[in-house]
Amino acid sequence: MASDGNKRVRVKLGERSYEILIGRGLIEQAATHFTVAKLGKRGIIIADTTVEPLYADKLVAALEDGGFSVKVLTIPAGELSKSLRQANRLLEKLPSLGLDRHSFVVGLGGGVAGDLAGFVAGTYLRGLPFVQVPTTLLAQVDSSVGGKTGVNLPQGKNLVGVFHQPRLVLADTGTLQTLPVRELRAGFAEAIKTGAIYDAKFFSWLEKNYRRVLRREPAELVETVRRCCEIKAAVVGADEREGGLRAILNFGHTIGHALEALADFTGLLHGEAVAIGMNCAARLSARHAGLPVVEAQRIVKLCKASGLPVVVGAGYNLPALYEAMRLDKKAVGGRLRFVLLKRLGKAVISDAITDADIEEVVHECR
Ligand SMILES: NC(=O)c1ccc[n+]([C@@H]2O[C@H](COP(=O)([O-])OP(=O)(O)OC[C@H]3O[C@@H](n4cnc5c(N)ncnc54)[C@H](O)[C@@H]3O)[C@@H](O)[C@H]2O)c1
Ligand SMILES: [Zn+2]
Repeated sequence: MASDGNKRVRVKLGERSYEILIGRGLIEQAATHFTVAKLGKRGIIIADTTVEPLYADKLVAALEDGGFSVKVLTIPAGELSKSLRQANRLLEKLPSLGLDRHSFVVGLGGGVAGDLAGFVAGTYLRGLPFVQVPTTLLAQVDSSVGGKTGVNLPQGKNLVGVFHQPRLVLADTGTLQTLPVRELRAGFAEAIKTGAIYDAKFFSWLEKNYRRVLRREPAELVETVRRCCEIKAAVVGADEREGGLRAILNFGHTIGHALEALADFTGLLHGEAVAIGMNCAARLSARHAGLPVVEAQRIVKLCKASGLPVVVGAGYNLPALYEAMRLDKKAVGGRLRFVLLKRLGKAVISDAITDADIEEVVHECR
């Protein structure tokens, strides 16, 4: 615990190391933390149309009080904004704003604003300092940490992007009080994933405390975000560019991303698609990686208890689903690469899953 009551997690990446601060009221303290992180005096904030009226004024006021000069650029709320079109629209606004290489870009909001703002920050002038101020549970436990940024193409998720680490992450858990409950649950799916792949003890803690987290009890929210960030920092610190270990973060995502792409990024939230994908991946793990059936069932049970979907809707065209999986970046040489669990807390990567294996579990999960 830091002396100011915030929790701190350090992402260790040599000279690109950075701090994640977690706690209530961090937006109000932004200027202090920006100064400590040695950010320039001028920057832009990218927020969506829902988050902008809730938190942008507060962040602007806090930064201006500390002598920073910032301008807010707004994008429509929703996954469809993670597009080259929006990236282009934002980038074309930047030359007239007098930014230089020391100016910063802030992604204020959920994973959509964060991934898009990171992409803009990573590409404009070949890279500007970037700050994440995540305001969804999903963004606080997962997407704001690790430096993956990018946009979707109509054919698939995150097909265009760059690695660009933030200089600072301010996870103000107070912002989660205004998050719609469906979004809160979707973020919780990534927390379940994090426990499942890396830390059986944390998984048990989530089983015990999920009601408190979903009731937004402040201490349980902070603990969930802290432990997820600690785990993600350890994984990313060991493998920044996904040569090996980092791939375990994709548990549930091979099928999840395909479901999202087929729903044209509108029907299912990312976390909901991941919950369905984890249900399928847990079953595959029980059959092909030795995961005890009771442990596979605990994953599905926790998702269900948290109000997450776990079945592949009857409306999906299965051949199209398999096609979408092959387009996903996680396919290597046309062969699907699956993250499976040997047991709760221990993930393995498998190239041995056949189309027939997938069809079997997808049928079971319908
Ligand atoms: N870069 C990564 O490593 C990584 C990891 C996981 C997920 N992602 C990406 O993250 C995206 C999903 O992120 P998300 O679930 O945060 O979606 P999102 O950014 O669309 O946010 C969800 C909704 O909540 C609203 N919102 C945000 N904060 C709010 C608040 N405090 N109060 C009220 N409303 C609020 C937003 O306006 C939006 O409508 C996906 O595109 C996914 O691919 C990226
Ligand atoms: Zn995810």
